[in-house]
Amino acid sequence: MARPHVMVVPYPAQGHVIPLMELSLLLIKQGIKITFVNTKDNHERIMSALPSGNDLSSQISLVWISDGLESSEERKKPGKSSETVLNVMPQKVEELIECINGSESKKITCVLADQSIGWLLDIAEKKGIRRAAFCPASAAQLVLGLSIPKLIDRGIIDKDGTPTKKQVIQLSPTMPSVSTEKLVWACVGNKIAQKHIFQLMVKNINSMQKTEWLLCNSTHELEPAAFSLAPQIIPIGPLLSSNHLRHSAGNFWPQDLTCLKWLDQHSPCSVIYVAFGSFTTFSPTQFQELCLGLELTNRPFIWVVQPDFTEGSKNAYPEGFVQRVADRGIMVAWSPQQKILSHPSVACFISHCGWNSTLESVSNGIPVLCWPYFADQFLNRSYVCDVWKVGLGLEPDGSGMITRGEIRSKIKQLLDDEQLKERVKDFKEKVQIGTGQGGLSKNNLDSFIRWLKT
Ligand SMILES: *[C@@H]1O[C@H](CO)[C@@H](O)[C@H](O)[C@H]1NC(C)=O
Ligand SMILES: *[C@@H]1O[C@H](CO)[C@@H](O)[C@H](O)[C@H]1NC(C)=O
Ligand SMILES: *[C@@H]1O[C@H](CO)[C@@H](O)[C@H](O)[C@H]1NC(C)=O
Ligand SMILES: *[C@@H]1O[C@H](CO)[C@@H](O)[C@H](O)[C@H]1NC(C)=O
Repeated sequence: MARPHVMVVPYPAQGHVIPLMELSLLLIKQGIKITFVNTKDNHERIMSALPSGNDLSSQISLVWISDGLESSEERKKPGKSSETVLNVMPQKVEELIECINGSESKKITCVLADQSIGWLLDIAEKKGIRRAAFCPASAAQLVLGLSIPKLIDRGIIDKDGTPTKKQVIQLSPTMPSVSTEKLVWACVGNKIAQKHIFQLMVKNINSMQKTEWLLCNSTHELEPAAFSLAPQIIPIGPLLSSNHLRHSAGNFWPQDLTCLKWLDQHSPCSVIYVAFGSFTTFSPTQFQELCLGLELTNRPFIWVVQPDFTEGSKNAYPEGFVQRVADRGIMVAWSPQQKILSHPSVACFISHCGWNSTLESVSNGIPVLCWPYFADQFLNRSYVCDVWKVGLGLEPDGSGMITRGEIRSKIKQLLDDEQLKERVKDFKEKVQIGTGQGGLSKNNLDSFIRWLKT
């Protein structure tokens, strides 16, 4: 039989490209050929962030398709990118499959779709190609998506996804609860975007029935309730990047490695790590409160802060702040997060609680301070604070601001809570068992790879 050739298509956003790239690199090590499809924009960013001498493109066939948008301004318009994913990308990908298929030796033997672009599975089915899907988010998130018809039936949301009233729902007693106004599609703050995202999700539910494998980068130990509600979801994670990857493949920005050397100079469990994912921005006032909060803790910190982190202006640090914290704080533009979180000097993580970050933190036994921000993060936060109880949530004051006092007192509360720290260490151990030889996640992954090869 010809060498298995898998076409991988991520949703065009960094949080999706990186995981699928990692999974691809893992498959390549097993002798599987990969064609990785990006939009042109993302393709260029990846290529320019690759360290020189990186041989990624000799291992993976990196190809791009047009997203039909003219400029990055247009791409930022609400609802634009989800509209493109739904209406432009499918045809481009289909053409690509036909083009590759033109040569017998390169034929695609399987597609691996990002769970949020289920239409790839429809195309593959039509063409008689085998199918797998991968969800880079939590199983809970996936289950919530799959439950949309049930939510409509019960009158919790209407046919367009709009909540009929504000209420807190919970799919099972041991799953995170989520307020209806915080449902992924309902809290994007824009009607058009909501409509597209919801449409995409509804379409995905049908497409997901066509996949032969619905893989999830999670583990049974962390989300037992989600896996029992939707037994078709197969946990293969967490596939921690340090386990099998050299760093930075698929990252959009070069990483700053100086922070690892800096961490080496600090005592165990002393450093606060602060990072908010790639698309978070803060108002100038909130930015300053965070600075002053970190200063008030009197602890060493590493803060990943991108140059355009403050809305509409350059990051304006409070007067004298940079000088005052110079001997104990560093600000970097991007970080090798997984390496930082596994460093013994790190005490806790202030995070927007993206799934990726949350899992990396918990898998390394690091407690989390959750900063509420965007879309589906609310579910992540609920896992951290209410279900696993391995972190605390920062609460905004009456005007929606997370104050410096709140930051200081929650850090103290977190680091003084011995039981909480014990629980997160416990999770670290469970995760290691699941991904180790003979563990459930490891066995699932092995079976998937065997299937690809048959
Ligand atoms: C996800 O994980 C990768 C690998 O550890 C990391 O580089 C990336 O920054 C993480 N976060 C997002 C939002 O992609
Ligand atoms: C590939 O091409 C062959 C011959 O043209 C066709 O029969 C087959 O369905 C195509 N497969 C895909 C995946 O397009
Ligand atoms: C958590 O946040 C990430 C964004 O970083 C998202 O992709 C994921 O779906 C979220 N997971 C949950 C359980 O909300
Ligand atoms: C799986 O999850 C871990 C923890 O969030 C993350 O570091 C890794 O990049 C993810 N890998 C894939 C392939 O999604």
